Amino acid sequence: MANHSEQKTYQHTSVLFHESVDILSPMLGSTLIDCTLGGGGHTSLMLEKVGPTGRVVAFDRDLKAIDNAKAKLSSSLASGTLEIVHATFGDILKHAEKLNLVGAVSGVLADIGVSSHHLDEDSRGFSFMHDGPLDMRMDQTSGITAAEFLRHADEKDIADVIWKYGEEPKSRFIARLICEIRTKSPLTTTKQLADLISSKVIWKEASRKHPATRTFQALRIHVNDELGQLKQLLKDAPKILAPGGILAIITFHSLEDRLVKESMLEMSGKTKRQSIPRDLPLTDAQVSQMSASQGTILKPFPVAPNEQEIRDNPRARSAKLRAIRFQ
Ligand SMILES: C[S@@+](CC[C@H](N)C(=O)[O-])C[C@H]1O[C@@H](n2cnc3c(N)ncnc32)[C@H](O)[C@@H]1O
Repeated sequence: MANHSEQKTYQHTSVLFHESVDILSPMLGSTLIDCTLGGGGHTSLMLEKVGPTGRVVAFDRDLKAIDNAKAKLSSSLASGTLEIVHATFGDILKHAEKLNLVGAVSGVLADIGVSSHHLDEDSRGFSFMHDGPLDMRMDQTSGITAAEFLRHADEKDIADVIWKYGEEPKSRFIARLICEIRTKSPLTTTKQLADLISSKVIWKEASRKHPATRTFQALRIHVNDELGQLKQLLKDAPKILAPGGILAIITFHSLEDRLVKESMLEMSGKTKRQSIPRDLPLTDAQVSQMSASQGTILKPFPVAPNEQEIRDNPRARSAKLRAIRFQ
């Protein structure tokens, strides 16, 4: 019988493998940043593209991913072409300054969200399909777990999180259920939470989605401050890139994609002018400066996986890749 405390080996299949590295137009000898090392797939392709005279710096907030990648990419670490940093990409500017990378990077890639390891490993507590501790932290060395959040937060805050990050229409009802049950005993496992929701919320046969899907997504986004991290990256990546440098981001749900799309449109000067109120007392020069373009969007529509990739790796189905080249 399978031992539930036994940890699975680290597994992750890179999404849009060639597309997301090629869009950075990597050159031999150049410097690239991979914000999300994960299983090291994109990082290893970057290393191949920049060659022995190039440099790749890869971030991850998850020590399990880092340990796995350190073993897999040991020769690049030994030769100095690869550096791995245990940090969030929200702190990219601070680390780029420390590593003397500001203005020297020709491409930044972020393949955001969780890895297959997170979803498949019971002990990480991300999935309602497996029973495990209700943790959900990508970095298990800091922050509060989903169980701690559900134990101490106000009912209204829980409802707001489930609504804002899960777009769950039953957010208030689910928050009430959670607060009622915790007066008897705290929710500590994924199964307790999934069973609580599925026992009281009607399954929608048409969508075939487990009724806890949106709540799990919301808690994960909240616990890891995923949208805050993404906003900070969008703000700081342009400061690190060299002229002509490219920022590419793969997202997996509409909340993230909306942020990336709007921010890239704004940086390309496409939305600012319309959003400046007409009656403001501004000169033409001031308006032009406010709507100035910092870069060019590389594809008019996001790049998505083709049918073959989705067949081979169904988790890739909602991926969207967007990229912008800075001046
Ligand atoms: C989808 S996986 C990346 C897979 C990788 N591109 C590959 O080819 O194997 C996402 C990884 O990013 C990490 N991650 C997510 N958000 C992060 C953040 N804000 N800062 C640093 N790492 C993050 C996760 O721990 C996870 O390992």
